[in-house]
Amino acid sequence: MADRISVRDVRASDLDVCARLLAARHRRDRERTALLPEEYEDEGRCRELLEGLLAEPLADGAVAEVGGTTVGFAFGQRALHAADHWLAQYFPPRVVAIPVHGHAMAESVETASAYRALYGYLSDGWVAGGFFNHRIEFVASDAEQRELWFRMGFGAVTTYAGRDVSPIPAGALGERIEIRRATPEDHAEVDRLESVNGRFHHAGPVFWPYLWDDVRASASGLSKYALERDRHGIFLATRSAESGVETLGMQMLFSGMAFGPAAATPERAAYLFHGIVDPDLRGGGVGSALLERSLDWARESGHEYVTLHYASMNPLGGPFWESRGFEAITYSAERRIDDRVAWARPR
Ligand SMILES: CC(C)(COP(=O)(O)OP(=O)(O)OC[C@H]1O[C@@H](n2cnc3c(N)ncnc32)[C@H](O)[C@@H]1OP(=O)(O)O)[C@@H](O)C(=O)NCCC(=O)NCCS
Repeated sequence: MADRISVRDVRASDLDVCARLLAARHRRDRERTALLPEEYEDEGRCRELLEGLLAEPLADGAVAEVGGTTVGFAFGQRALHAADHWLAQYFPPRVVAIPVHGHAMAESVETASAYRALYGYLSDGWVAGGFFNHRIEFVASDAEQRELWFRMGFGAVTTYAGRDVSPIPAGALGERIEIRRATPEDHAEVDRLESVNGRFHHAGPVFWPYLWDDVRASASGLSKYALERDRHGIFLATRSAESGVETLGMQMLFSGMAFGPAAATPERAAYLFHGIVDPDLRGGGVGSALLERSLDWARESGHEYVTLHYASMNPLGGPFWESRGFEAITYSAERRIDDRVAWARPR
């Protein structure tokens, strides 16, 4: 079967077939992952997503054909992340990402061969253009996708997860500890806790670059914006002592802003952007009490779900969210190409 697959650039006239393939894949995904939004079972809604990709100057797309019939497609989005933007903490400066709505394959073909052909075709151009970091986003419950990208050299980087807003019972907190809503006056403490979060992610096994000094103005601008708007929810855990009140932890949630992929985000979802507790207080129930409050807020402000990202290898955050009902919706997996290919080449 593999030798019969051919690949070419995508054209506008392919979009109907691609939308049909994407909607069919989404229907299969929803049977395994009920959190996925129903609306993308509709081919028209899928087509709108694909039209967006086709119109993007930095997106490249290709289709796979067997005997003149289109059996699959993939789009990758090249992205350049400014070194001082808060997003630089989560993405390499030059990265290509195939989004969860940017690929699908007919069930009738040998999936791994067809994806290999598509990725090989597209990635030649990416590497030639100096894009050595490649990401793929796929539905976490799709074992075939996990296996085929693993075999192409990709490993999980981030997990996008969600749960409904039903309450969680948090245990009793220590004396004089309370959870309250943050105000703009708390901005300095919110900044401090963000830098604590960065320090945690710098250590093994996560090993993310600690870019707080570089991105501080941008990250701080985002939290200031959130603190000044009623529609977002930022909660602090504080403890009063004789010397004053100290801050112990924070959760920051955004409402109505697209931090997660549209095709993988349940309707009416709030996004939990930061969850962080000071190192010497972890394991004492502060994180659970903050989450209890965040879920209450999400429910009371009309949300039905909460979604969030975590580093897939995070030894504290991963188990914490999972044991509190968050289910993995998608994985982003990454492959770093050995950049010596740029000069170590046959001539
Ligand atoms: C994830 C985090 C916010 C949870 O806050 P927390 O106050 O530790 O949460 P809790 O005490 O309510 O629960 C922590 C759980 O880990 C367990 N635990 C055991 N040892 C622990 C330790 N040394 N540190 C943290 N948790 C520990 C707790 O017993 C508890 O287990 P349970 O799930 O069976 O109840 C906190 O660990 C943290 O700040 N981690 C670093 C930053 C991070 O990973 N943030 C999430 C990014 S997406």
